[in-house]
Amino acid sequence: MISQVLRDARKYEETAQKAITQEMRPGFHLSPRVGWMNDPNGFSVYKGEYHLFYQYNPYSSHWDTMHWGHAVSSDLLHWRYLPAALAPDTTSDRDGCFSGSAVTLPDGRQMLIYTGVEKISLPEGGDCVLQRQCLAFGDGTDYEKYGKNPVIDENSLPEGGSKNDFRDPKIFERADGSYGCVVGNCDGERDGSVLLFGSPDGYTWKFERVLAKNGGRFGKMWECPDFFELDGKQVLIVSPQEMLPQGFEYHNGNGTLCLIGHCGADGEFVEERNQSVDYGIDFYAPQTTLAPDGRRIMIGWMQNWDTCPVNGPNQPWFGQMSLPRELSIKDGRLIQKPVRELEDMRKNEVRYENITFTDVMKLEGVKGRKVDMEVTLRPGDTENIYHKFAVRFAQNENYQTSISFRPYEGIVKVDRKFSGTRRAVIHQRRSLVRTEGGRLKLRIILDRFSAEIFVNDGEHVLTATMYTGQEADGISFFADGKVTMDVVKYDLMDADEK
Ligand code: FRU
Repeated sequence: MISQVLRDARKYEETAQKAITQEMRPGFHLSPRVGWMNDPNGFSVYKGEYHLFYQYNPYSSHWDTMHWGHAVSSDLLHWRYLPAALAPDTTSDRDGCFSGSAVTLPDGRQMLIYTGVEKISLPEGGDCVLQRQCLAFGDGTDYEKYGKNPVIDENSLPEGGSKNDFRDPKIFERADGSYGCVVGNCDGERDGSVLLFGSPDGYTWKFERVLAKNGGRFGKMWECPDFFELDGKQVLIVSPQEMLPQGFEYHNGNGTLCLIGHCGADGEFVEERNQSVDYGIDFYAPQTTLAPDGRRIMIGWMQNWDTCPVNGPNQPWFGQMSLPRELSIKDGRLIQKPVRELEDMRKNEVRYENITFTDVMKLEGVKGRKVDMEVTLRPGDTENIYHKFAVRFAQNENYQTSISFRPYEGIVKVDRKFSGTRRAVIHQRRSLVRTEGGRLKLRIILDRFSAEIFVNDGEHVLTATMYTGQEADGISFFADGKVTMDVVKYDLMDADEK
């Protein structure tokens, strides 16, 4: 049975979506059907297609009354909207259906596990927000909430665990057919942790252990955990709130943290290393799924909470997903590459080899706002290495966004100061990268409103949204000193192009 609240949302989105043309959206990144989008939810493969749900407020381009939006794709790049999947329409989720995940049950149904938010008035005055984990079952389009929700509540919290910040269940199947689930939590000081629960059938859950504890190291509350095996390691990804910067590794505000480790003798998670997932401005709350061919694919919300209030009231949509990225581990680091399916969207190849230049240069055929471009750099003079290199894109007389590299410092910087924003929000971020004698590889993916820069085959990634009008489509290169480079550039197709 579909509730009136969900029926209203479905009716609204179907009509309101018509005001948004393909040119107003990114070409191949998922944006909300209408209104507001945040975290990816329920990223999964079901009945032969990728399903991606998202935190969704159809009614405005601002965060409010969380629903789950829904889209499907066979290649992770061409997305087809399905009707909204969940609405806040039961007691245990009346104040929002927050983030969660999906799994296929042995009987063929898809099960969603999500955080139901319920605000409760206290007898002594004021109110208290409860976050509890709930279930819904469906066929890939329509979902019915479980009558006995919630299935994980405050009674299963370990001592000191907050019942107000207890959210974002990520479910996974275990080898014996039972399920595990990681959930974000914090203590009275808002110090983050990840809790692990186990269930034989998905319905009844038991607290197993605190899988990881922040201990004051990385921000405060840890949101949106994901836990999986990758190349023989155990990987725990979380999105901490309120981070303090640490060198060039972590920046202020909401961040993304990857803990790489292994399983100890007692089944505990033993941390070995930590790193940021993305070093740019706009990337948060990523979630992964396992593709049928064994690839671990991650998608994140391509936004930054601190920049959101800047979004104007009249936008028909706000929020985008990142490119889906293939994950691997190399030399103890998390490596991310755009999914290989993106290569099928390339057209109009332009190739330059061994171009040596100084100062500013443009290349015939190199421009555009839906672009896949690889730039391989080396010094033009090995005795006298250049001081700075930059690619400027989304450029015209007034605007530009850039990625620059200073070989002596090993620093890559994304800068969108001149990308049309009128607000004093963060416009630059830097990352320390690996370079030998001024060599570096950049792969730059542009899609109308965003740039994702993969450094050295995915060792570091910097993601940023851009606000510049689409007429700013120039690309130019800058060198302080002598640079030699190879450039391979493709245009990328729009989702409605064949
Ligand atoms: C992360 C987050 C989640 C929560 C959701 C609410 O961006 O704060 O922790 O479930 O957004 O929309």
